[in-house]
Amino acid sequence: MELKTEYLGLALKHPVVASASPLTETLDGFLRLEDGGAAAIVMHSLFEEQLLHESESLDHYLHYGHESYAEALTYFPRAEEYRLAPDRYLDLLARAKERVEVPIIASLNGVSRGGWVEFAKDLEEAGADALELNLYYIPTDPGLSAQEVEAMYLDTIRAVREAIRIPLAVKVGHAFTAFAHFAKRAEEAGADALVLFNRFYQPDFDLETLSVFPTLHLSRPYEVLLRLHWIALLYGRVGLELALTGGVHSGMEAMKGLLAGAQVVMMTSAVLQNGPGHFHKVVEELKRLMEEKEYESVDQMRGAMSYRKVAEPAAFERANYLKVLGSYRLPTS
Ligand SMILES: Cc1cc2nc3c(=O)[nH]c(=O)nc-3n(C[C@H](O)[C@H](O)[C@H](O)COP(=O)(O)O)c2cc1C
Repeated sequence: MELKTEYLGLALKHPVVASASPLTETLDGFLRLEDGGAAAIVMHSLFEEQLLHESESLDHYLHYGHESYAEALTYFPRAEEYRLAPDRYLDLLARAKERVEVPIIASLNGVSRGGWVEFAKDLEEAGADALELNLYYIPTDPGLSAQEVEAMYLDTIRAVREAIRIPLAVKVGHAFTAFAHFAKRAEEAGADALVLFNRFYQPDFDLETLSVFPTLHLSRPYEVLLRLHWIALLYGRVGLELALTGGVHSGMEAMKGLLAGAQVVMMTSAVLQNGPGHFHKVVEELKRLMEEKEYESVDQMRGAMSYRKVAEPAAFERANYLKVLGSYRLPTS
């Protein structure tokens, strides 16, 4: 049974990777993730806002069509409230590289071309094996088109690509009009992998105080379905690698992700719930499932359940939609 694989050109002992989480805020966290069995570790993100408070192009997109710049500034945490300052992040990365053997992927979160992108170079110099760029932006202005938003994303990818030589993964949300097209353009802009998908954190309303408050619920396994769908659709149609993040809690979701076509699957919520040792458990479950289905290697089963052989995926999708709705049976009273 061969579990070894590659992601972003990095040799991995198996395909289950630690996605960005607060566990990498300390050196001890890195060591626990490695001991727990993670094949590679993605660090928590540093934010563009942290790197450059005065980024002109960021201001442009965050305040597009608005004059309330001063108010918008108050939405962001003050510098000292951020999790880890840039210099401490670099220091932690360098120390982790000395102690940890599995590959470390640094993470930047930003949405515009600007001076902050230069920090990617510092991450490379501090020893990052690869970089994950998280593009998290909710376009709220009716005057801003999908094309403009995508142009901004692609421009950011190009800028980061130009700044570094290490492999580059790009993490995005799922709300695109034509995601397959965006994936192709991201590849052309220099991304080596897409990480699918960011979870959309939806704030809740407090009816007592009539205020809006942020909520963070850890994921549930059903969330993997959205990822399976898109990875299965894109596998073999785009040249970049596809990493799955969101809803992987057991060997079952890991297996499904690989069958859809994921190069690797990632975990955060399940690890926060069960501790870093959960990686060992999931890898053991994956091995058992592979034995049961008589797969000899991860590479052999990757994409076996993708849409690669479906000639007309869009028609297939519509047919499935009809079938699913038609399959519902009203309860008999
Ligand atoms: C507490 C917490 C902190 C996170 N921090 C980051 C982060 O800094 N950067 C990032 O790209 N994703 C971050 N994520 C998202 C995870 O990396 C992951 O993509 C998401 O939780 C979905 O995977 P899961 O279902 O395995 O949790 C965070 C998630 C949680 C729960």
